[in-house]
Amino acid sequence: MLTVHWSTVRLFIHVLAATVWVGGQLTLAGLVPGLRAISPDAPRTVARRFNRIAWPAFVVLVATGIWNIAAVHASFHGAYGVTLMVKIGVVAASGLSAFLHSTARSKAGLAAWGAIAGLSALAALFLGILLARG
Ligand code: HEM
Repeated sequence: MLTVHWSTVRLFIHVLAATVWVGGQLTLAGLVPGLRAISPDAPRTVARRFNRIAWPAFVVLVATGIWNIAAVHASFHGAYGVTLMVKIGVVAASGLSAFLHSTARSKAGLAAWGAIAGLSALAALFLGILLARG
């Protein structure tokens, strides 16, 4: 059996929170047509409940992300540093667009911010894998 290190715990918590933030958004998007068939209000009610799980996960992602930077003595220079800064920008876009999506009232606003939130969350996930491999 391999040894469990602090890095195992750190990455486990970071990835667990990513599964909730990213996977939850994708799953919720897929459930919307089914929820709408139950009641026109159901998507909003379920999305509100999801927010109570998703935002704590986002806070955990930022906290463990800072822990990652400290633990791996991350450099803000070179290809790794550029990737890290792009990732932090994409994470900020992910949080902002998810917030704007949750406050949007028009159909166009909901669709546009929802799409940006989903894509930026996926991009953050991808860049995280890139960082861990680099
Ligand atoms: C939407 C938010 C985020 C998602 C979805 C996400 C996702 C991930 C994933 C999947 C990994 C790869 C873990 C592995 O395979 O071992 C990772 C690694 C990493 N993340 Fe994040 N992350 C997010 C936010 C952040 C933030 C806010 C920071 C910095 C403040 C950050 C810094 C890092 C670093 C430095 C690594 C590399 C860790 C290592 O090499 O041990 N992440 N992230």
